[in-house]
Amino acid sequence: MISFSNVTKAYDKEPILKNLTMSVDRGEITFITGPSGAGKSTLLKLIYCSERPDNGKISVDNWVVHKLKQRAIPYFRRNIGIVFQDFKLLDNKTVFENVALALRIHRMDKKALRMATHNVLKEVKMSHKAKDYPPYLSGGEQQRVVVARAMVTKPMILLADEPTGNLDAENTRTIMKLFREINAQGTTVVIATHNEGLYTGSGRRVLVIKDKYIDREMMG
Ligand SMILES: Nc1ncnc2c1ncn2[C@@H]1O[C@H](COP(=O)(O)OP(=O)(O)OP(=O)(O)O)[C@@H](O)[C@H]1O
Ligand SMILES: [Mg+2]
Repeated sequence: MISFSNVTKAYDKEPILKNLTMSVDRGEITFITGPSGAGKSTLLKLIYCSERPDNGKISVDNWVVHKLKQRAIPYFRRNIGIVFQDFKLLDNKTVFENVALALRIHRMDKKALRMATHNVLKEVKMSHKAKDYPPYLSGGEQQRVVVARAMVTKPMILLADEPTGNLDAENTRTIMKLFREINAQGTTVVIATHNEGLYTGSGRRVLVIKDKYIDREMMG
C-alpha cells in the first residue's frame, strides 16, 4: 500500500532521512517512532506529498508519489485523511461545517453530505456540539472533530502525527479507539509518535527511525 525505497530527504542540504526503505501493507495500523527530530513528521509529509524526496522512490497504492506532478497532488490527497498538528480546525466554521468541508471538495450531493457528516460526528460522540465553534470546545473535543474530518471521506489511508500530543489519558484512549474503528472499516492507518504508551501492548507493527533510516521493526 505504502512503499519507500531508498528515500533521501534533506532540508538545506542536511539529510534528515537517508536511504530509508519501508513498507506498510493495506489494512495495517503502523506506528512510526523515534526521538524528536528523527524525521517522523517528515516521513508522513513525504507520504502526503507536502514534502518531496531528493532521491528514492515512494509509492502509495497505484500512485507513483515521487513523480507526481503538482497539479495531480490534490487528486492524490483525496485518498488520504490527515490528523496533523499544523492542519487545525477553522475557528469561524461550526463543527458540522469543518467536517462537511472535506466532503464538499469531493462534490458530494447535499443530502448525502448531511448524512455522512452526522454519522461521523455520532461516531466521535460530538453530535451534540455540531453547531458549536472550535474555540469553545475542549482540547479532547477538538481532536475528536479533527479525527471526524479525517475519516468522513472514508479515505484509503489515514495519517496521524502525534494525534494525542496534548490530550489526557482518557481522551488519548478515545482517539486510539477511533483509529482502531476506522482501521476496522478498511482504512490503513499510520501514526507517528514519540509516545511509547500509544503502541505498547497494541500488537501492531512499530517502525523505529534512528540514524536517518528505519533501524528496526518491533511489535507494539
Ligand atoms: N521545513 C523545514 N526546513 C528545515 N528543516 C526542517 C523542516 N522541517 C523539519 N526540519 C528539520 O528536520 C528534522 C526532522 O524534523 P521532523 O519534524 O520530521 O522530526 P520529528 O521526528 O517529527 O520530531 P518531533 O518528535 O519533535 O515532532 C528536524 O531537525 C527539523 O528541524
Ligand atoms: Mg514531528
